Amino acid sequence: MLKPSLHVEVRLKNVGGAFVRTDLVREEVLEWLLKNFVHLKIDQEVENYDSLPHAYLIESINVVDFSDTEGETSFHRLQDVQLDVQAYELHESEEDSLPRTRSIHHEGEDEDAIPQVRVTALPGKSLNGVWESLVFNNGIPARLLRFTIRMMSIMKNPALNLTVLNWNRLILLYGPPGSGKTTLAKALAQKLTIRMGKQFTRGKLVEVNSHSVLSKWFGESSKLVGKMFDSIHIMAEEETTLICVLIDEVETLTSSRERAASGNECGDAVRATNQVLTALDRLRHRPNVIVFCTSNLINTIDPAFLDRVDVKQHISNPCPAAAYEIFRTSLNELIRCNLLVPSSDSDDVVEDSDDVVQLVGDSPSISSVSGGDWILMDPCTIPTLLYMNVHLWNRTNCPARKLWRIAQRCEGLSGRTLRRLPFLALALHIHGESCTVREGLAVLAMVVDEETGKGGELKREAMEERETFHTSFP
Ligand SMILES: Nc1ncnc2c1ncn2[C@@H]1O[C@H](COP(=O)(O)OP(=O)(O)OP(=O)(O)O)[C@@H](O)[C@H]1O
Ligand SMILES: [Mg+2]
Repeated sequence: MLKPSLHVEVRLKNVGGAFVRTDLVREEVLEWLLKNFVHLKIDQEVENYDSLPHAYLIESINVVDFSDTEGETSFHRLQDVQLDVQAYELHESEEDSLPRTRSIHHEGEDEDAIPQVRVTALPGKSLNGVWESLVFNNGIPARLLRFTIRMMSIMKNPALNLTVLNWNRLILLYGPPGSGKTTLAKALAQKLTIRMGKQFTRGKLVEVNSHSVLSKWFGESSKLVGKMFDSIHIMAEEETTLICVLIDEVETLTSSRERAASGNECGDAVRATNQVLTALDRLRHRPNVIVFCTSNLINTIDPAFLDRVDVKQHISNPCPAAAYEIFRTSLNELIRCNLLVPSSDSDDVVEDSDDVVQLVGDSPSISSVSGGDWILMDPCTIPTLLYMNVHLWNRTNCPARKLWRIAQRCEGLSGRTLRRLPFLALALHIHGESCTVREGLAVLAMVVDEETGKGGELKREAMEERETFHTSFP
């Protein structure tokens, strides 16, 4: 039976336009890992690879994913898995080296009357770390990534008869505003290019701003939509380039023709929708093209478009555990930049059963900061929910527990709002250059209260700093 895959990503240094044999590095790292390791752990950064002949080209080696959802533990014995090593270099996005947007210009036409798309080279520097910054319930990104890889790999088989197997390589992410749909689509494009490095030597992200096509070019829409897709076809002629098309707010381009007709709207929108449908039918014959679409108005989308979508994935607002993680990473960034500092009265620290006081870190390790019975852990950051549940379950007043109480009150807030609130809290309520973690959490509670409109309840709690709140862990 085929073993499940453990994915390892080797990020290469940018060597100033010099040609790097990624296949050589890939083979070298694979061999070295198999020879020197018994286990590897998800999220592990592998070090001490200096003995490799091409070590000077390597920026980092990371274990990133495991393909079998059943046995999702973090440690994996190499004899039980198939190691999949990918090597990649991050490119400057093309907008850095080319004009900011690229016009699709056709001879004899007014250049102004042409819609704009944005092309970014993948894997792109501007998208580095975006995948890791996203926090979703139920491992949605990893599942989508595995699915798209399988879909692309199967469809690359030239023997497949596409009239019998109807796949369009079309993925729709839908859900409330600010839930991370656009960001996830871009992160998927980046990851897909890295993970499919053996099949495609490079990638391009083609962002279509559907809104500008229709509103700006009213009356011309269908022609422009057609031209836009023609240009994507031309790009896709290079079969070793993976083309990831992103159509944001797709309802603008594919509004229901029935609604448009009954509302006596101009036929422009109807024709544009027809044009998109025809263009998608043509694109499905290009095995190196995948189309991601986003929408927060799925009910207004034409049924014929929805029928072509292979995967419709609802992206909801973060659950409390995801809200905690979003806040945690934002607050830790503020701590890293010294905008938040531990309280001097040690309320940000927790006592363990041996009366040792600890400020817990991400990957707790006892640091050199110690004095008598007091030992601080480094780095001074707010720990993960898992760590809190295991080690801090009886420390009601430590920062992690306070943050968890705040996160549980964030129901209905979008990821975008959650990412904004820690900074907003400091900007609105703290007047010095920095404040303590304790003060930071108190003002964060206040802005959450204001945002969710929960009256003075949470505010009072934050101000009085009561310890009577009971936490229910997920
Ligand atoms: N689940 C999440 N985890 C982490 N950050 C998130 C999450 N959701 C949103 N964000 C943050 O919010 C910002 C906005 O997200 P994005 O534009 O992708 O949302 P969207 O769903 O496309 O919104 P809209 O429907 O308004 O277009 C991103 O920069 C991202 O940092
Ligand atoms: Mg969006």
